[in-house]
Amino acid sequence: MFFLSPGLVAVICAFILWIFDRKRRETQARAEARPRVEEDLKDSTDLQQVEEDADDVEEPEENVEHIPFIHTRYSEKEMVKRSQEFYELLNKRRSIRFISNEQVPMEVIDNVIKAAGTAPSGAHTEPWTFVVVKDPAVKHQIREVIEEEEEINYMRRMGHRWVADLRKLRTNWIKDYLDDAPVLILIFKQVHGFTAKGKKKVHYYNEISVSIACGILLAALQNAGLVTVTTTPLNCGPRLRALLGRPAHEKLLMLLPVGYPSKEATVPHFTRKSLDQIMVTV
Ligand SMILES: Cc1cc2nc3c(=O)[nH]c(=O)nc-3n(C[C@H](O)[C@H](O)[C@H](O)COP(=O)(O)O)c2cc1C
Repeated sequence: MFFLSPGLVAVICAFILWIFDRKRRETQARAEARPRVEEDLKDSTDLQQVEEDADDVEEPEENVEHIPFIHTRYSEKEMVKRSQEFYELLNKRRSIRFISNEQVPMEVIDNVIKAAGTAPSGAHTEPWTFVVVKDPAVKHQIREVIEEEEEINYMRRMGHRWVADLRKLRTNWIKDYLDDAPVLILIFKQVHGFTAKGKKKVHYYNEISVSIACGILLAALQNAGLVTVTTTPLNCGPRLRALLGRPAHEKLLMLLPVGYPSKEATVPHFTRKSLDQIMVTV
């Protein structure tokens, strides 16, 4: 028979505890070295969450009147011309990271945001908030938050491959355009809404809906003759949300500095994939 003395049992227990503690510390160290960034990228439309929240959610309004649709029909020639011209307009769009401090007409900003607000949305929930920042002091505070986080992103969070992939863009964590651009538009997705009675309203596919609105906004800016660069400041969402006084159910999706290009603006010499590379006809 083999008996363990109390002393030996204590030593074995201490050893097992030490192994567990070392594993825990290793995991924690790895997490701190490369903090999770996926939260910023995740789409929060989650069917399980919708089910779990069901008790909190008010029954929807079903009595919406249906009215005749008014359509403008063009001749085929006109359709070809319009689609060609629209493509040519959008093909001139580039991400511009050198923006002049010249002011832009605010009526144009109103109109491009109205255009973005025409986007389709899951169950017509319109889950977007466009925060327009003009105040130079607030723009500068935004820059400080972003540069602080972006330095950590480049040095630690993004990893070697991501940083290498960005080299061709010649970007880093210094973002002059956040002070220079006369307008910053911060686009928030509302992960849920509220009914008139204060109950939670489910915002289905809120990230896809807001992303479509952002695409329309980019096209509207291009159409108006303004420039921007699509930016997704990683890990800055909560701090910028707090800075701008937005509620907790709004999450930052995108930040667009908007203005005219500065005289010395340059862009990477990119080509775009051809139609046969992006289109498959079945
Ligand atoms: C979802 C998304 C996120 C992006 N994030 C950034 C960013 O954080 N900073 C940046 O300088 N450019 C960003 N870009 C811009 C891309 O680098 C740019 O679109 C790409 O290089 C193609 O160039 P073009 O926009 O001039 O065609 C982003 C673009 C997209 C679509």
